[in-house]
This record gives sequence, C-alpha cells and structure tokens, in this order.
Amino acid sequence: MTKIRVGVIGAGSISVSHLNSYQNNPNVELVAISDLHVERAQNKAEKYEIPNMYNNYNDLLADPQVEAVSICTWNDTHAEIAIASLKAGKHVLVEKPLSQTVEQALQVEQAVKESGKVLQVGFVRRYANTTRVAKQFIDAGDLGEIYYAKASCLRRLGNPGGWFSDKQRSGGGPLIDLGVHVIDLCWYLMGRPKVKSVSGNVYYKLGNRSNISNLSFYKSSDYNVKNDVEDLASALIRFENGASLMIETSFTLHAKKDEISVKLFGDKGGVEMEPELTFITEKHQTILNSHPQIDQLKFEFTSAFQNEIDHFIACCQSGEKPLSPIEDGIEIMKILCAVYESAQKGSEISF
Ligand SMILES: NC(=O)c1ccc[n+]([C@@H]2O[C@H](COP(=O)([O-])OP(=O)(O)OC[C@H]3O[C@@H](n4cnc5c(N)ncnc54)[C@H](O)[C@@H]3O)[C@@H](O)[C@H]2O)c1
Repeated sequence: MTKIRVGVIGAGSISVSHLNSYQNNPNVELVAISDLHVERAQNKAEKYEIPNMYNNYNDLLADPQVEAVSICTWNDTHAEIAIASLKAGKHVLVEKPLSQTVEQALQVEQAVKESGKVLQVGFVRRYANTTRVAKQFIDAGDLGEIYYAKASCLRRLGNPGGWFSDKQRSGGGPLIDLGVHVIDLCWYLMGRPKVKSVSGNVYYKLGNRSNISNLSFYKSSDYNVKNDVEDLASALIRFENGASLMIETSFTLHAKKDEISVKLFGDKGGVEMEPELTFITEKHQTILNSHPQIDQLKFEFTSAFQNEIDHFIACCQSGEKPLSPIEDGIEIMKILCAVYESAQKGSEISF
C-alpha cells in the first residue's frame, strides 16, 4: 500500500492528538500544516518534521502533494474548510461538531457526494475499545431492545474561554462541545434510531467563573474571558421506535465534582460505558454486574484517537465508508440544533 500524504489544518490543542496518531501510523506521511497563528504552525512543523507550512489553509489545499486533511480549527470553519478540501480532491477527517448548522452540514454532504472522497466525522468515542466491545454485545442481542439511555458530562469549573465561549466561533457551549460526544455515543450504540422530537433547556446562570482561584482548569490556546455561551444544557430526545435519551452537560455548575456517566438500558440487560464499562444482566433470579476482562475499562483517549486515525487512513486507502460518516454528522447536528431551538422557543421540536 502506498502511504497517504496528510495535511493538518489548525495547529492548536487537538492537533497534537492528530499529529501523534498520524506519526504512529506507518501508512502516513505528514506533508503540510496550516494555522492562522504562524508560530504555532511553525512549532508543530519543526516538532513533527513537516516540510510545508502554510498560513492560509487554501494554500495547503492547493498543494498537490496533500491527499487527505484533518480539520482541527474552530467550529465556525469546519463546514467551509471541509467543502473547500473536498472540492480540492482531498479526503477529510473533520473534528466534531461537523458544522454549526444543519444547512451547513447538508452542504458538506453535497460536496462529499460530488467529490466521491472520504469524509469522516471525528466522533472519537465511537473508536474506543470499550465502545467496540459494548457494540459487539448489543449487536448480538445480549441487552435486548435498548429503550432508554442517559448521559451526563458535567464540569463544575471548565469553561475553556477563548473561541469555545465565543458563540460566533463555537456555535454554542457545553452542548456542542461536550454533549456532542455523549449524544453521539448513545445514539450510535442505540442503533442510530430516527429522531422523533427534541425538548431542551439551556441556562446562562453562572458565566465562565473565571473569578475562581485555587482550582485550575483547562484553558483554550488563545484564552480570554469573553463568554456568551450557555453554561448548562439538558435535553430529552425521543425516537420513532419509542426509545428515549436524556442528556445533561455543563461548562460550569455548582456541582460537588465533575461527572461523566453514559448508561444504556435494554430489556435484557444494561451497559454503563462511563465511568467504566460494566454490563448489567439477570441470571437465575440474580442480578449480575460484570466487567469484561479487557486492558482498559475506562474510555482511553489516546488509543481511541489512534483507532480513529488508523480507520481514517484505511478508508482513504480502500475508499470505504467510515464508521462515522457524513450522514451521522448531519443527524447529530439536527439533534444539537433542535436542543438550542427548543430551549429558545420553550417548547418541544418535532421532526
Ligand atoms: N475530539 C475531541 O475530543 C476534541 C477535543 C478538543 C477539541 N476538539 C475540536 O477540535 C477543534 C479545535 O479545538 P482545539 O482545542 O484544538 O482549539 P485550539 O484553539 O487549541 O486550536 C484551534 C486552532 O485552529 C486555528 N485556526 C482557526 N481558524 C483557522 C483557519 N481558518 N485556518 C487555519 N487555522 C485556523 C487557531 O489559530 C488555533 O490554533 C474544535 O472544533 C474542537 O471542537 C475535539
């Protein structure tokens, strides 16, 4: 197999996971990097021995050496750069969320169809080993019909500031940044059921809480305290098959500690994906909580990311449709946008 020559657009925090994983893949040659922030791109180019550095992503796309790109920029540029990349004949791995609106997501889909290139949405949790194991059990019918799922992804002090809390560039707060991961994970494991309706609430109560001292938290590469995104979102998503999904996610909240939990419930058994993989079943009138004997019971970011990148490269080589294709990116955008719309209207959105 010939190597795939890759360019990375956006050289901030998450680009490190892309670059490390590409570097570990023997079928990849990293050939180009681009960032608006020249020094940031330069540092990455030096560290990863990338020969070409561009300030403007269009120049990277004009480079005929580049066959595939990772889009690791602010959310407001995902759709625009994905479309330009596909039009330039490149395969695309686009970070979550796919876009900021459903209209943009559909435009990306059109570009995928016209180009015939691979587009993979960066739903990294789908690629975790724990997800693969749980999916095997679910697909084999071990949990029966999954009729309810519940996910919490709560930070008590974790508004990253910078573009993350600037609605114009992010499209929203914890819902579009964190909620997207757990909504996708549940929806994927539930068998991607058709959405019937969405009812959501968002709250702007606590702000970014940059006043808090003595407790450190993650800050974006270009940190500032501008904040016009929600600090808490919750939603109930109903599906046409009768199943439902409850989610809650925050950047800031008066909670005792951060919390991540993802649980799915079927009529034959349940599974907790987070905080660690556990199957719940019933046998001989007895309830069993069981842990599969696998290397990691918790979600492990580095290996999930490696799996995601390896899968993308394999799809570029084979032309096969990725595990997280454009259609799924669109469905998740429909859910996210409906939560915001429902919260704004104060009523349920029917699909
Ligand atoms: N999969 C995950 O778990 C995960 C984790 C973190 C972030 N992300 C996603 O990755 C993306 C980037 O997040 P981050 O944490 O790396 O942010 P960041 O602020 O650290 O980096 C973003 C970089 O993009 C650059 N950029 C913005 N617009 C550009 C353009 N038009 N051309 C070239 N460069 C441009 C910025 O200068 C910045 O260096 C976001 O969409 C975010 O949602 C995904």
